[in-house]
Amino acid sequence: MGLHLGDIAPDFEADTTEGRIRFHEWKKGQWAVLFSHPADFTPVCTTELGYTAKLKGEFEKRGVKVVGLSVDSVEDHRRWARDIEETQGQAVNFPMIGDADRKVSHMYDMIHPNASNTLTVRSVFVIDPADRIRLMLTYPASTGRNFDEILRVVDSLQLTDAERVATPANWKPGDDVIIAPSVPDAEARQMFPQGWNALRPYLRMVKLPKR
Ligand code: BEZ
Repeated sequence: MGLHLGDIAPDFEADTTEGRIRFHEWKKGQWAVLFSHPADFTPVCTTELGYTAKLKGEFEKRGVKVVGLSVDSVEDHRRWARDIEETQGQAVNFPMIGDADRKVSHMYDMIHPNASNTLTVRSVFVIDPADRIRLMLTYPASTGRNFDEILRVVDSLQLTDAERVATPANWKPGDDVIIAPSVPDAEARQMFPQGWNALRPYLRMVKLPKR
């Protein structure tokens, strides 16, 4: 059976560019982004890894560890990392899993045979401190991902874990949020003394104080 949101992310042991890791132990108590790319020495992947490395400070601010994966070897990842640094102006600063035996790729269903029998698709898993899968994304090989969107989702998940709210379409930190439909008005009055704008009884927009 495939993986679903809310499932415990499968644990594994793997060689990476930063040594051997046991996944759950490596991320222990932190958020993690595990993402696959199709292959080393390919153009779109080169831009994705460079951009993700540039976001390291943003991931760290949110307590998120990042790890990449493809079915290439760790030696190939290391050789390719030199190209990423030279062409993207940023050294890779997170581990890259060498999954030549496809063990982790199969565990996370990252090979989609009708797209490619051998290469991993562009999968993203956001995994919370309790090791539960909170987001899954799958992109085709020809489309580079928007890693700012991954940060935005992490911001939404961390906010909505802390407060009984949900975030609307295209929400960005600081924008108004939606009071969770499970919160009755009487309770909402205690939680949100600043008041809210009820566009419909089920659509209550609220401005949160600066966090
Ligand atoms: C790329 O990263 O550019 C790429 C990788 C595999 C297939 C197509 C494109």
